Amino acid sequence: MKTIIANIKMNQTPSESKDYLMTIASKNDERNELIVCLPFTSLSVGEFLLKGKNNLKLGAQNICDEEKGAFTGEISGAMLRDAGADYVIVGHSERRSKFRENGRSINKKIKIALKNRLGIILCVGESLTEKNTSKTNEVLKNQIEEALKGLYENELENIIIAYEPIWAIGSGKTPLAKEIDQVAKYIKKVISEDFSNKAVTRIAYGGSVNLKNANSFLKCKNIDGLLIGSACLDPNNLLQILSSIGE
Ligand code: PGA
Repeated sequence: MKTIIANIKMNQTPSESKDYLMTIASKNDERNELIVCLPFTSLSVGEFLLKGKNNLKLGAQNICDEEKGAFTGEISGAMLRDAGADYVIVGHSERRSKFRENGRSINKKIKIALKNRLGIILCVGESLTEKNTSKTNEVLKNQIEEALKGLYENELENIIIAYEPIWAIGSGKTPLAKEIDQVAKYIKKVISEDFSNKAVTRIAYGGSVNLKNANSFLKCKNIDGLLIGSACLDPNNLLQILSSIGE
């Protein structure tokens, strides 16, 4: 079974999410796990429409790195859990660059998410300059080690690491499937060196995934899922991607 993560980003009002999720929930073939990461304001609609549905999970897109208190405008782990979220995205490159999130804060967010029994989608990825100067592995190792610092090995099973090259997000460009597979293999190596070779982590690929390329990425030995942005905004396109898996 593969895991498909739909990142809605800052799109959809609650009423739009309702229409979107009704289409998805009524036509999803349930063969693979689908995690729909909605804006905070759509989570209650998501909980109402997705709860109890086979292989359909609800995700949020961010979490505060503090537990509670005087943090105006922030959303806590407990709030997400109570609102029905099963997962939360942490460390997306848009948050790292536009909202200046750093490794320390990402590590705190992961710990708070774990404490609140949320699954985590941890995004990591290199910039184009880093890729062109052969720094991909080094950058990923640093991002992963900062994010997972102080975690117990058994907590890793709650984490999906999404490899999202920054240059591939929203650009229409992607690495080759075999390059993605090599990076995923490297990430698994880092995890087994830092924890043990029994550590379980799922690896997803994200960045300009569409109906044409999704299946070729999912055929990679080391890839367990996909994180999809713009191509998931049309529910019928997302359903087509889901039904094409394994073809
Ligand atoms: P994209 O976005 O599929 O539109 O490239 C992916 C992401 O940012 O998670």
